[in-house]
Amino acid sequence: MSDRKIAFITGATRGIGKEIALELSKNGFDVVLNYRKETEDMPELKKQIESNGAKCFFTQGDVSNFEDCTRMAEEIINEFGRIDVLVNNAGITKDGLIMRMKKEDFDAVIDVNLAGTFNVTRNVISYMIKQKSGRIINVSSVVGVSGNAGQTNYSASKAGIIGFTKSLAKEVASRNILVNAIAPGFIDTDMTNILSDTVKESINTQIPLKRMGTPNEIAKVVKFLSGDDSSYITGQVIHIDGGMLM
Ligand SMILES: NC(=O)c1ccc[n+]([C@@H]2O[C@H](COP(=O)([O-])OP(=O)(O)OC[C@H]3O[C@@H](n4cnc5c(N)ncnc54)[C@H](OP(=O)(O)O)[C@@H]3O)[C@@H](O)[C@H]2O)c1
Repeated sequence: MSDRKIAFITGATRGIGKEIALELSKNGFDVVLNYRKETEDMPELKKQIESNGAKCFFTQGDVSNFEDCTRMAEEIINEFGRIDVLVNNAGITKDGLIMRMKKEDFDAVIDVNLAGTFNVTRNVISYMIKQKSGRIINVSSVVGVSGNAGQTNYSASKAGIIGFTKSLAKEVASRNILVNAIAPGFIDTDMTNILSDTVKESINTQIPLKRMGTPNEIAKVVKFLSGDDSSYITGQVIHIDGGMLM
């Protein structure tokens, strides 16, 4: 068997997840990319990953569906025999002020972002426990710490991820599994591209570094948390936000 490590990234064919898959593939990991909807650039992404000397394996599934998560974990074990790193990245927004927020929009965001993180982790953790090693990196958000008007659902899901991360870190530390969260600020992806240029400019003025972050600036921190250089870090929330929240 190859000595490359296996990283499983959810929501990995677009945005931050895609960049994490690419970055890890350049740094000694074979990568498993979860996707929900097939996209036409997936063959090109596979080529890019393979040109970095890594294996690329796709697994389809909705993280809010527990059975999908069981099947995805089994597919990875059948293919690679282990899972070294799990990045719970898949996430959605359905913004709105609470007076107008529909119950289904609240539930959908909690189901994907928070329950999805549980569903995937619950299905992967037993393999990591057997291996006596693992890294889990959960993608929270700056608004999970600060709150944000119009995002009660999203902020609650991201704050929940922080509690989940700290509790799990305490539970599995004795098994040599390290669990951390990252809290990105305002990052240039499809998720933020729905905002008008005026809104973006106004957010940028509130960021000490005066600009949005790039997906690669997130991926680099995930690489650090996945590797040997972060072997004494667990239960932490690493902010990557240009100083937005201090
Ligand atoms: N962009 C930011 O400013 C920012 C800031 C803080 C935190 N974050 C967090 O960073 C993560 C990635 O965000 P992004 O900006 O890269 O967003 P994005 O470009 O909208 O990508 C979201 C990814 O999640 C996947 N996804 C959504 N629902 C899913 C489900 N039920 N099952 C499986 N995959 C699902 C999407 O897959 P499909 O292509 O199939 O829809 C897509 O690959 C999210 O957790 C987000 O909350 C982003």
